[in-house]
Amino acid sequence: MNAAVAKLRELETRGDSRAYIQLAGLVDRLELKEGYTGEHTAAVSQLAVAIATELELPAAEHRCVELGALLHDVGKLSIPDRVLTKPAPLNELEWEAMRRHAALGERLLARIVQQADVLAVVRSHHERWDGNGYPDGKRGEEIPLAARIVAVADAFQAMIEPRPYREPRTWASAFDEIASESGRQFDPECVEALRAVLH
Ligand SMILES: [Fe+2]
Repeated sequence: MNAAVAKLRELETRGDSRAYIQLAGLVDRLELKEGYTGEHTAAVSQLAVAIATELELPAAEHRCVELGALLHDVGKLSIPDRVLTKPAPLNELEWEAMRRHAALGERLLARIVQQADVLAVVRSHHERWDGNGYPDGKRGEEIPLAARIVAVADAFQAMIEPRPYREPRTWASAFDEIASESGRQFDPECVEALRAVLH
């Protein structure tokens, strides 16, 4: 059982267990499809919760951050394997297909998850602070805070993990890149919270 599925089982105790079995199934299938996602997803969730704690979010919002982070990429189940696992940078057409995963994830999960705030994290985790993200081009505080947190955690975690076409980055180098996008791609407060968590 991968780490993200284990985490979902842990959360199951407080929710609708049938829903969690379905969610765990989706996350598990995504890991099989992508190879690395299970560990990646669990690590993003852990880091996102640490950032939420640093920002002193209320306990109820921690749960939204945690669940949203665990589920943020399930829309990738609808992306063709040749795009998802391409061992090289994507071309423009492939990027277009890949960008659909945020809205597709929300649509897929809306049949299972009742919490609108969790669905919003999935839909908005690729929005940018400057408004140049997707799928809706929301900017600044229009983007739910939980989604801004997951965006920072996801980007940092992806950089420090190896990919088929590149070596993993060091924490320092990954954080420098995140910091260089503060106020552009990322919410400056979330970037500062990440800095505090890493120290
Ligand atoms: Fe994503």
